[in-house]
Amino acid sequence: MITLGVLVSGTGTNLQAILDAIASRKLDARVGVVVSNVPGAKALQRAQEAGVKTAVVDHRQYSDRRAFDAAVVEALRAHGVELVVLAGFMRLVTDVLLHAYPMRIVNVHPALLPAFPGLHAQRQAIDYGVRVSGVTVHLVDAGTDSGPIVAQAAVPVHEGDDEESLRKRILQEEHALLPRVLQWFAEGRVAVEPGSPGQRARVRIAGS
Ligand code: GAR
Repeated sequence: MITLGVLVSGTGTNLQAILDAIASRKLDARVGVVVSNVPGAKALQRAQEAGVKTAVVDHRQYSDRRAFDAAVVEALRAHGVELVVLAGFMRLVTDVLLHAYPMRIVNVHPALLPAFPGLHAQRQAIDYGVRVSGVTVHLVDAGTDSGPIVAQAAVPVHEGDDEESLRKRILQEEHALLPRVLQWFAEGRVAVEPGSPGQRARVRIAGS
């Protein structure tokens, strides 16, 4: 069984999807700790209700991002975390976290990367006028939403959609995809390989 550390900043519906998948035995994992950079985030309450340990590492208390990340790493290690999940975690990570968990940090992003990285991905999709957007689960590297892609799911953009209606449709797919991907990690089926010349590193899922 794999021990997850889930980093959150807000509502925590993706955290809830993970907790629900564990409870219903679709995901063979335990959440060792939920770390929030925002005191009072709803996600912390969800963790507590599920009997999961929580830690608040308030970024405003740290002089810089690396010092903040060092405190996050300390909390993750203290709880035996093997795989880190960024589930609505709205901070850029530094080399401190990346080196502590190399290719062991998973992010869920509400767009079909490499389209619309960064903040307000759903608004970017609406503003651009795309007909399809979606969700990407990827490994985190030093760039912004640029790491190797593990899985994606497409979502239609309808006539008359706004940021909020698209956000909700994408979120449903996030809740389905993220626990499924985490189960691949739990089964030890995920490997990162260098791409052929001219290609980026890529993820292979054994047995798929
Ligand atoms: C989700 O839509 C997630 O994809 C997004 O924040 C939301 C968090 O919702 N993450 C990012 O935009 C990261 N760049 P949740 O707190 O209810 O899981």
